[in-house]
Amino acid sequence: MKQKILVAGGTGYIGSHTTVELQNAGFDVLIIDDLSNSNIEVLDGIEHITGIRPDFVQLDLKDKEGTRKVLEQHPGIKGVILFAASKAVGESVQKPLKYYRNNIVTLLNILELMPEFGIEGIVFSSSCTVYGQPDILPVTEDAPIKPAMSPYGNTKQINEEIIKDTIHAGTPIKSVLLRYFNPIGAHPSAEIGELPNGVPQNLIPYLTQTAIGIRKELSVFGDDYNTPDGSCIRDYINVVDLAKAHVTAMNRMLDGKSEENVEIFNLGTGRGVSVLELINTFERATGVKVPHKIVGRREGDIEQVWANPERANKVLGWTAQETLENTLKSAWKWQLHLREKGIQ
Ligand code: UFG
Repeated sequence: MKQKILVAGGTGYIGSHTTVELQNAGFDVLIIDDLSNSNIEVLDGIEHITGIRPDFVQLDLKDKEGTRKVLEQHPGIKGVILFAASKAVGESVQKPLKYYRNNIVTLLNILELMPEFGIEGIVFSSSCTVYGQPDILPVTEDAPIKPAMSPYGNTKQINEEIIKDTIHAGTPIKSVLLRYFNPIGAHPSAEIGELPNGVPQNLIPYLTQTAIGIRKELSVFGDDYNTPDGSCIRDYINVVDLAKAHVTAMNRMLDGKSEENVEIFNLGTGRGVSVLELINTFERATGVKVPHKIVGRREGDIEQVWANPERANKVLGWTAQETLENTLKSAWKWQLHLREKGIQ
């Protein structure tokens, strides 16, 4: 029989790509999502790719009784992947309580319900934001955790602690904490991708919206950093590669192969790319120009961060595969698909 996985936040950007990869790997998926930052039509996209429509329940996971009822109606779930969270760094500074409530209560509910329903493991969406500006690059999982730069970042640190403390206290579950670097791109079919609400805050959706003419020009936040071309450096990881790491992590936990009850992995390519390099690579890969101008630094930005992904490579047996060129092409194809559909 197929093993069943709960994907909390499964209609979102990374959740939808992970649902596809779980289905491709033979898992049954139940999605719970409140659709606060995603669209029900994502389910059609998933079904077009895999031929399977995942089970779906619209619910706010802060509703513990509601979540319990859903789990009663869907017995036999083996593992959970928790994506459901608020994720806009800037908004979190304006509305900290929204972030603390959404991102912490949801995790508490899931951790309390897991043993009740015999759910064995949780894969948690964490972020390289926990490292702040690392002293040593590329950054390994053993680098010190730096004070968070935003309430959003703080929720990721607190969530990691909550999971560790819960398991340390003897709760019979396992966890894998996945620290993402900068996920970008879309499924190569362009059936699913990133759908930001309003004016995008992240680089790639702003860049593709500029390239297609929705935005006049892309602002490059600073060219006076201590980097080769002066712009910030990040580790941009293809979203399908990232999604596959969740399947590997889940299999590892469910097959009893974890070496520790809580394991932590960086998910990145190991390569740092500057904002200006990224714009050039996009223009080369797609043949489309991106009007851009240099403006002042954005408050709170880290100068440079990229992953040492060796632990994930060796222990998980996972390596980022896709080239940056193809990843940027996939982001562009997705933007064209949105225009065809009249969405953006
Ligand atoms: N940038 C621009 N112009 C834009 C948007 C971004 O120049 O219009 C630059 C930023 O200054 C940064 C880079 O592009 O140097 C990437 O910025 P993003 O906003 O796309 O991503 P961040 O690295 O700031 O943040 C991401 C996630 C967060 C996560 C963080 C961890 O969005 O959720 O990585 O470092 F916490």
